[in-house]
Amino acid sequence: MRILHMNKGDGETSYAKNSTVQSNIISLGRRVMDEALKKLMISNSEISSIGIADLGCSSGPNSLLSISNIVDTIHNLCPDLDRPLPELRVSLNDLPSNDFNYIFASLPEFYDRLNKREKDGLGFDRRGGESCFVSAVPGSFYGRLFPRRSLHFVHSSSSLHWLSQVPCGDVEKEDGVAITADLDNRGKIYISKTSPMSAHKAYALQFQTDFAMFLRSRSEELVHGGRMVLSFLGRSTPDPTTEESCYQWELLAQALMSMANEGSIEKEKIDAFNAPYYAASSEELKMVIEKEGSFSIDRLEISAVDWEGGSIGDESYELLRSKPEALASGRRVASTIRAVVESMLEPTFGESVMDELFERYAKIVGEYFYESSPRYAIFNVSLVRTG
Ligand SMILES: C[S@@+](CC[C@H](N)C(=O)[O-])C[C@H]1O[C@@H](n2cnc3c(N)ncnc32)[C@H](O)[C@@H]1O
Repeated sequence: MRILHMNKGDGETSYAKNSTVQSNIISLGRRVMDEALKKLMISNSEISSIGIADLGCSSGPNSLLSISNIVDTIHNLCPDLDRPLPELRVSLNDLPSNDFNYIFASLPEFYDRLNKREKDGLGFDRRGGESCFVSAVPGSFYGRLFPRRSLHFVHSSSSLHWLSQVPCGDVEKEDGVAITADLDNRGKIYISKTSPMSAHKAYALQFQTDFAMFLRSRSEELVHGGRMVLSFLGRSTPDPTTEESCYQWELLAQALMSMANEGSIEKEKIDAFNAPYYAASSEELKMVIEKEGSFSIDRLEISAVDWEGGSIGDESYELLRSKPEALASGRRVASTIRAVVESMLEPTFGESVMDELFERYAKIVGEYFYESSPRYAIFNVSLVRTG
């Protein structure tokens, strides 16, 4: 958590310029989010001030996109439900190293748009910008962020597949002293077909611990009947080594290994590096939710998207691409992944190798696209605070 941040600013390799995939994932989750907001508004017909949080907001156009969608939906629901516009207390959360200044700089535009809605004759008793108050809350969502019972709605997109830390290997007891071992995951940077079972277990356990902590923290912060809509990368099979579950990391490990073979990075560093990421299965997700006990699942959908964030409607998804198209797509995917993982790789492998690494990665991904049509599995889970 100390080193993870999306690439800052709005330069070529920034998250702001390379987050179309995540923006598509936000759009994909819109229907489930709108449904949850409608249920929330119906069951809380009296409240005049709604607490809303977007967790893992990052910086760039998507940070205010989720919030704009939430505000628009509530604004559209109010006339239908024949109720006045409530005051919206909106909190944007991310880790302290996030580029919050970028978001603050785009707030005037966000408020202008809200105020324009009033001018467009939507008939509210207040100007949009006078009923929505945005603030930022830096900190980890794997712990408390907000006062007790201060929130009604929590949203998070493309963030909860990040773990709080790289998992440790088995805890060994030597003369009664516990030793945490490194994952024995040679030549790989995430779970792979060659990873030992102990690495699979360590990743699964870290996810369970983190996600339970996430739920426990939110259960304190949400009012009874409050709702959460979470979308993040998962997997549709129990096996964590299928292409859908891990192949973006497998190909990145290939790019790193090709550089190690030429001596430009040390192989031992690849052996020691593991990504703080986990694509859970729906069974794991349900198990943690049930065990923690504060939330019930209102809806759980799993959608397939391609690596550029395009929706895949049916099982016969097959994209025939020319070689130049596949390579161009590989470059776009490599830029998207670079904007997210560069801050994690740099401390281990060094800033000087990043351009070369992601050029190789783009090529490897492009070649793979020529032969294959990979997909990510996206979870969209809508939860209600019950217990
Ligand atoms: C890929 S970005 C998604 C950003 C945005 N929600 C979107 O859809 O474009 C993931 C974000 O989650 C944040 N994140 C990861 N772990 C976090 C944690 N423990 N607490 C808060 N934010 C976290 C990262 O810093 C990053 O900004």
